[in-house]
Parts: sequence; structure tokens; C-alpha cells
Amino acid sequence: MDAFTFYNPTKLIFGQGKTENLADELVVYDRNVLLVYGGGSIKKNGLYDTVMQQLQYAGCNVTELAGVEPNPRLKTVRKGIELCKEHSIGFILAVGGGSVIDATKAIAVGARTETDVWDIITKKELAEDALPFGTILTLAATGSEMNSGSVITNWDTHQKVGWGSIFTFPNFSILDPENTVSVPRDQTVYGIVDMMTHVLEAYFHPAENTLLQDRICESILLTVMEVAPDLLNDLEDTDLRETILYSGTMALNGITQMGARGDWGTHNLEHAVSAVSDIPHAGGLAILFPHWMRHSVDVNPERGAQLAERVFGVDRTGKEDRDVALEGIDKLSAFWTALGAPSTLSHYEITEDQIEEIADIASANGYYGNYHKIGKPESLEILKQAL
Ligand code: NZQ
Ligand code: ZN
Repeated sequence: MDAFTFYNPTKLIFGQGKTENLADELVVYDRNVLLVYGGGSIKKNGLYDTVMQQLQYAGCNVTELAGVEPNPRLKTVRKGIELCKEHSIGFILAVGGGSVIDATKAIAVGARTETDVWDIITKKELAEDALPFGTILTLAATGSEMNSGSVITNWDTHQKVGWGSIFTFPNFSILDPENTVSVPRDQTVYGIVDMMTHVLEAYFHPAENTLLQDRICESILLTVMEVAPDLLNDLEDTDLRETILYSGTMALNGITQMGARGDWGTHNLEHAVSAVSDIPHAGGLAILFPHWMRHSVDVNPERGAQLAERVFGVDRTGKEDRDVALEGIDKLSAFWTALGAPSTLSHYEITEDQIEEIADIASANGYYGNYHKIGKPESLEILKQAL
């Protein structure tokens, strides 16, 4: 394995009813709070009222930023930064899914600098500070609740950029399964696909001697695959919600990548798709990931075969590793399709005349992917297969 340093300062508060602990967490922070949320799901399911009550218990003065979009946009981040400066905000509370949390990370950094936040997101300038912020997660998917990553879309330039800094780990995150019960079926499927791809991105790495890392990844995948079909049959089962919630966090809080850096090329390619056509992140991943795996099968057929055998139950007897790996990819595809995830770009009305632009965006900084380095021609090939 590679040498590594692990750092993750986020305080994770997990469990049924833990939303009621919010006031206790808030008291150590500034009373001027910016409350950030999305398009209104928290008003429909009652979480908004619970959160407002807790903010009141803690004696907070609340300014609100509502309407953070899925695939959060730079203009909304800028609005949040202005609100922070105008109202002398000292703490931000994000209540929502990955989009709300990612926007909050950018607002937290932008509020403590005069540098243009887009220059920081696009890595022309370094983040040097951030307001403290906490999160109440409402959708199991991205892992943003316990990592420093953030993905922001500049719709004017059609760029969707992933970035992060040492300052963008949440100070605390409250994960209460009850808050995820109202997630509709399609978003539940997207969340499941997203967390599985985070583990798969981590699994395809060039490091050697990663016995425990592999087993950790495989156990998350097996757990999610065991629970997902049952959850989709009963979206209100809080035990199943709890397992999926915990899995989503474990899939991208750094633990799977101790000592081995994964590929992440498919995430880069999907962000390029979303920058051209505003589709759900994991919808794009469900379509692209199996094609990336087929495209990469010869990089290390043994690794693909190991995954196929241990996670997808493929019998290796008398078969070449490459064939075993390909069988595993078919099983992954079939599993996602059975859950109801899309499998072709045409599902989102993305057509052949758009893929050149997508491939250009994906390879704007040259070759990408840590396990399988690919550039524009390979991106085009994968996109064509995915049409
Ligand atoms: O906006 P509201 O009304 O809240 O509705 C949201 C939104 O429409 C809804 N939702 C969330 N919680 C709900 C709920 N509906 C009912 N009940 C609830 N409890 O779900 C919809 C999607 O929400 P969103 O936050 O966009 O989803 P997700 O958590 O999948 O986040 C996607 C974003 O995260 C980025 C993606 O690129 C995308 O922009 N990612 C962030 C990562 C990170 N920070 O580490 C890594 C990921 O790979 C990903 O790239
Ligand atoms: Zn993702």
C-alpha cells in the first residue's frame, strides 16, 4: 500500500432522534447563523420546524438561504457569501443533501476572504480560512457530510468543478435516519448508485498489497446490495434507511482510500456530462461506470475478477480473469437496472452531437484517472458506448 496520513475532524452524530441534539451542538458557536437549505423538501417533511425550534433554543439569530439547486450553482454560492458578510454571520447550518452541503462549504470559504470564490474553486487561489459550519444530512449519497469535498457548477461557463480544502470538513454532522425517510424512490436509487460508485472508484487503484482496503470496499458494496432492494420495497423502513445512511458516509469519508488512491475518472467524466446537461449526478454515473469498467478491463483483469467473484458471486472456475471481470460488470449493470437506474445517455435526451463538448470538458486539463489514464479519445469512446 501507499504511505498515508489520515485526517478527518468531523464530529459525526448518528442515530434516530439525534436531530434533537442540534441545540447542544450550536451553543459553542456564534449566534449569528446562516441556515442553508434546498428547494423545500425540509418544509414538506417538518424538519424545517424542528431545526428552527432548536435554533431558537440555542438563542440564534437566523438568516436564511433557501433554494440551493441540485448540482448547486455558483450564483447561489455568491448570494450566500453576500448574506454572510451583510449579516455578520459566524456559523452556517446546512440542512439537506450533498448539494446544500457542497454550496455551504463554498459559502463558508468565500465568507472569510475577499478573493473571488470561483478562483478558489478552480484552484487559481488557495482557501485560507472558512466559517465553521455544521450539517443535518437528509439524503444518503455523496458523503459530503464527512469529507472536505464540494462540487460547484458555473452555468455561465458550463463548468462543474470538484474542489476542497482542509477548512471544508463540517465541524459536525447530524445523521438521523428519520430525516431520510421522505427521500423519494428515484433519489433513493441515485443515492445508492452514488455511494456504490464511490467505493468502486476507490477499488480501482494502482497500489499493491491492499488486502484490508479491498475487504473494506467489498463489505460496503455487499451491505448496500443486500439492503437496497428491500429498502426500495419499503421506503419507510428506518432500519434499512439507517444502514444505507451509514454506508453512504463510510463510502466517502476517506476510510476506503487509506493507502490507495482510487481512479475517479468516471466522476470527472460525469461532472462534464452534468455541466452540459443538468442531470442527476448518480444518474450519469449509473450510465457511465459500467462502460468505464469495460473500457478499463485490461488494466488489471485480476482486480476486476476479484471484484466479480467476491461481490457479484461470479464463479471463476476454468475462466480467464478478463471474462470473469466482464461477467461481474454485467451483473453490476443488471443490479442497477433492476433498481430502476438509467443505463443510456438517451434516457436524459443527451445525443451524439453533444458528446464532443462533454469529452472536451472532461479532458480540459489533459489525461485523467489514477488507475486508467484516459484523454479525449477514450472519453469519446466511453460516451459513444453509453449513448
Ligand atoms: O432541494 P430539496 O427540496 O431539499 O430536494 C432535494 C433535491 O431535489 C431532494 N431531497 C433531499 N433530501 C430529501 C429530498 N427530498 C425529500 N426528502 C428528503 N429528505 O433530493 C434532490 C437531490 O438533492 P441533492 O442534494 O442534489 O442530491 P445529492 O445528495 O445526491 O447531491 C448531489 C450533488 O453532490 C455532488 C454531485 O455532483 C451533485 O452536485 N457530489 C458531491 C460530493 C462530495 N461533496 O463529496 C461527491 C459526489 O460524488 C458528488 O459529485
Ligand atoms: Zn459521486
